Formats: sequence, C-alpha cells, structure tokens
Amino acid sequence: MVGDVHVRNGLIAKVNPEVGLSAPEDSITEIDAAGLTLLPGVIDPQVHFREPGLEHKEDLFTASCACARGGVTSFLEMPNTRPLTTTQAALDDKLQRAAQKCLVNYGFFIGATAEVLPDLLEATPTPGIKIFMGSMHGPLLIDQDALLEKIFAQGDRLIAVHAEDQARISQRRQQFAGITDPAIHSTIQDNQAALNATQLALRLAKQYRRRLHILHMSTAEEAELLRQDKPAWVTAEVTPQHLLLNTSAYEKIGTLAQMNPPLRSPHDNEVLWQALLDGVIDFIATDHAPHTLEEKAQPYPNSPSGMPGVETSLALMLTQAVQGRCTVAQVAHWMSTAVAKAYRIPNKGAIAPGYDADLVLVDLNTYHPVLREELLTKCGWSPFEGWNLTGWAVYTIVGGKIVYERGKLHTDVRGRALSFDA
Ligand code: DOR
Repeated sequence: MVGDVHVRNGLIAKVNPEVGLSAPEDSITEIDAAGLTLLPGVIDPQVHFREPGLEHKEDLFTASCACARGGVTSFLEMPNTRPLTTTQAALDDKLQRAAQKCLVNYGFFIGATAEVLPDLLEATPTPGIKIFMGSMHGPLLIDQDALLEKIFAQGDRLIAVHAEDQARISQRRQQFAGITDPAIHSTIQDNQAALNATQLALRLAKQYRRRLHILHMSTAEEAELLRQDKPAWVTAEVTPQHLLLNTSAYEKIGTLAQMNPPLRSPHDNEVLWQALLDGVIDFIATDHAPHTLEEKAQPYPNSPSGMPGVETSLALMLTQAVQGRCTVAQVAHWMSTAVAKAYRIPNKGAIAPGYDADLVLVDLNTYHPVLREELLTKCGWSPFEGWNLTGWAVYTIVGGKIVYERGKLHTDVRGRALSFDA
C-alpha cells in the first residue's frame, strides 16, 4: 500500500491510502518517505541493559541509542541488574533512570528469587515475572520444583521463563570440566536441558492455567513439543541468532557466539524457522546481553554468555524477508504486533488511527554491512559483523517524535513507561 500517515500529539491521526494528500495546515514536520517502507516500531521483549550496576557493559542511554538505530521503539528489560529488580523500589529506580535517559519506550520485568516477596505479585507497572530456571544470576535462580510451583500457583500475572534445567547443566559442567573450546558450551547446556525445563514450565502452566511465556526458545525438541501441545495462554519467542547462527559460529567468532541458551545445530535453525512461520512460536526477541570484548576474551568458561542484538534484529529479519524466507508483514507481526498482544501493551503494534505513533521507516532497496565502527551499543561488537543487510532503519519515530534520522540521533527525545493491561 502507498499512502500518507498523519501524526498528531504523538498518536496516529489518519492513515490514508491516497498518495499526495497535502499535510494538515498546522503540520510541523513532513517526511518525504518515497521509496521507504513504513512499519510499526519494533517492540523488543527481552533485553538486558545493565543499568543499574553493570554500566561498564551498557547503560539505558547507550542501549536506547542502539534501539533507535535498530528501529526498536519499545523494550522490555530483564531483572539481572545490580541490585536485582525484585522489589517495587528497584523497579521505581529503573523507571526513574529510564525517564531521564531513554530515547525509546521502556518496561521492566520483576525477578523471582527463592524468597517469594510480595512485590513479585504486586509491583507495577511490569510486563510480568521473570524466572531463571537455569543459567543462574546469583539469587535469581528458581531450580527447585516446589518453589517454581509455588510461584505458578500464586497470582495471575504473566510468567516468563528462561527454560534450562540447572541440575543437568551443573552435572554436565563437571563432566566436561577443563575444556576451553567454547563450542563445548552447546554440549554442556544441551537440547535436553532446555527441553526438560520447558516441559516442566508447560506442565505447571497447564495445571494452574497460568499465562506462561517461554523466552528465547532454542531447540527443535521444544518447538515440536509446543506444536503438539500449546494452550491458548502460552506464548514463545525465538531470537534472530537462534534462527540464523548455529554451532559453526564458534569456529569463526569464538566466545562471541557464547550465549544462554546456547546456539544449536542447523537442524534446530530449520525447525525453529518452521515453527515461527506456522505460528507455534509467536514472536521475536533479541536477548540483547552485552559484555565487553575484554570480558569475552577470557577463556571459556570464564567468558560470560550473551551477545548484543537490538541494533541488528530488524535488518536481519527484513533481509530474510527480502530474500524470500518470510514476508515483510510477518516480520512486522513478529517484531511488534504479536508482542503488544501477548504483553497486553495498549495502543502499540499497529499503524492505525488512535495508536501511538511509534514507527520505523526502512529502506528495503539498498544493502549495508554490519560495521563495528558504526555500532552504538556500548559493548561495541556484534556477532553479525560483516553481514550485508537490507531493511535498515532510515527514520525511527517514538511517540510522534523523530529519534533517529538518516544516521543521526535526536538525543533530546525521551520515551515513556509502557503500561500493561491486566
Ligand atoms: O546469554 C545470556 N546472557 N542469556 C541470558 O539469558 C542472560 C544474559 C546476560 O544477562 O548476560
């Protein structure tokens, strides 16, 4: 469709399929988007932005600049910061920091610890409870079935799980101790470890009819499980790296390919793609988890797990669309519409009158490589360096304001706190 979109007071006022309609008389800014494609701004539902406490890796300002460049207009951030986001006070602190520094819209998960605090059920606003079933972050680990069940049994807010079986991982870590080739990471934290945890979370979600979201699903086995048995109140996501990278990446980029859950085989890539195309997997998240190059340069297993993603995810997926693997409309659905729906974020995820004017104009006609020197994430590297991509953001618009424009940031723009319907 070719047409004009009018934005007023931060909202989409009119979507008109006719070309050349003159802008309203009082309009302040007009963008000539000839040749560009308009999409709803990306909502990245799983990021680790490191503030407070780990700002040497990333902070809310640098991360949100990277978002703006990547066409990401909203993000949902995880609780493994320092202090951990496990209380209303810690959540309020993040919201205040974000209000001061964030160029895009923001929401923050509340983290579950062994001591089930009342704030877990009451803190607001939050998209939900984050549970690390494995791949521990200090006290943010729920690896006892009884405790997990207790959390599922109380309250009704969404539970998002990092599904890896910690007991199996610990046992295999001992079994393979002493190996410093980072490729062993995918063997230690194997497909079975992911499947065990996803099976357990799914069982509890069914037993308690509890809204469950499976974060960064990584294996063929989990995808097949959900294909056969996925209640309406369960959702799942996949990352671009679990679709596009596999264990062959260790040879090329070593520990930069190390993340949790780990990269898998080409077969897993294929099955995850099919599950996404078939709607078994609902949407895409990056799990943006920056670490410095110095940290990553430590020999495995001292090298930390995680890789950045917000700056490259949209272009990676749109390149797949242009190359015929999916459609541009599917990318918009997976990276915006379906996320807003699952997390019940009002007024986002569509280009329609009354919706928030969070938009991205992308160029699907030219290719440009991922270059280290252009990255805005503080960690300063990407596992996709050298990949030649199309669909880069040319304009990113947050609440009707241009935050990124042809390579330049408008750092005076501020996003807003997201809200979540009950
Ligand atoms: O690889 C990862 N790193 N996976 C996660 O889920 C957390 C993350 C981090 O915070 O570094």
